[in-house]
Amino acid sequence: MGKFIFVAGTDTSAGKTVVTGFLARYFHQQGRSVITQKWIQTGAGSIQEDIQVHQNLMLDGCDNKADIFQKEKRHVSPYILKMPAAPVVAAKKEGVFIDKDKIKNSYFYLKENYEVVIVEGIGGVLVPYVPGEYIIDLAAEAGLSVIIVAANKLGAINHTLLTIEAIKHRKMKIEGIIFNQVDQEEDPDIISSNISAVIESTSEKVFGGIRYSKNFSELYFDFKKLLENQRF
Ligand SMILES: Nc1ncnc2c1ncn2[C@@H]1O[C@H](COP(=O)(O)OP(=O)(O)OP(=O)(O)O)[C@@H](O)[C@H]1O
Ligand SMILES: [Mg+2]
Repeated sequence: MGKFIFVAGTDTSAGKTVVTGFLARYFHQQGRSVITQKWIQTGAGSIQEDIQVHQNLMLDGCDNKADIFQKEKRHVSPYILKMPAAPVVAAKKEGVFIDKDKIKNSYFYLKENYEVVIVEGIGGVLVPYVPGEYIIDLAAEAGLSVIIVAANKLGAINHTLLTIEAIKHRKMKIEGIIFNQVDQEEDPDIISSNISAVIESTSEKVFGGIRYSKNFSELYFDFKKLLENQRF
């Protein structure tokens, strides 16, 4: 069965790119055809930076690195903007019109051609991609289900519950929540109590937490264990 997932962050730098790449690797290792998308990449040069990381994480250790990301370049990243800012701000500055039909057409093209499509969100869920239209609404229109990546730091309980509320309001399915430690210095009590507080406050599935590490093999090991314990 196909898997079509939107990776929503509680904020920018929550770890969406890393989790998107890990999800791609997880399904790729199962022998499925997998591709990722970043609908609007901001702060980019000519390369699609987040997509590059997805590709590296997905194909790490593989002999056969067929470059489907290059082949599908037009669709994996329909909009690439230079300014490191919210999409509406960067698009206005660069005189680019963001056409949601172009984004949806690229998504549906990939959905037709791949068994798994993982779409990395942009910042948090209520980031507008054009004035007054939010990225999560586009994900809802595309029929995507959601994995939430919560930056596991002080404030995460509120950010995560607000994110859940915004997604449920749009009647989207939440596949689960992953807590990601983004700051090495974070208090271990905060890390664990954030997770337990969210478990107590919602009926949504919490996959668990990923530690802080710059060793991505180690991080992937954590990630894989989280998913393997679930029916996902
Ligand atoms: N568990 C972790 N341990 C250590 N570093 C991490 C971890 N998760 C993410 N990082 C690092 O934190 C930074 C932000 O992560 P990432 O790029 O995945 O966030 P993002 O949500 O995709 O951000 P953006 O909103 O810019 O797309 C990156 O440099 C990444 O390598
Ligand atoms: Mg990213």
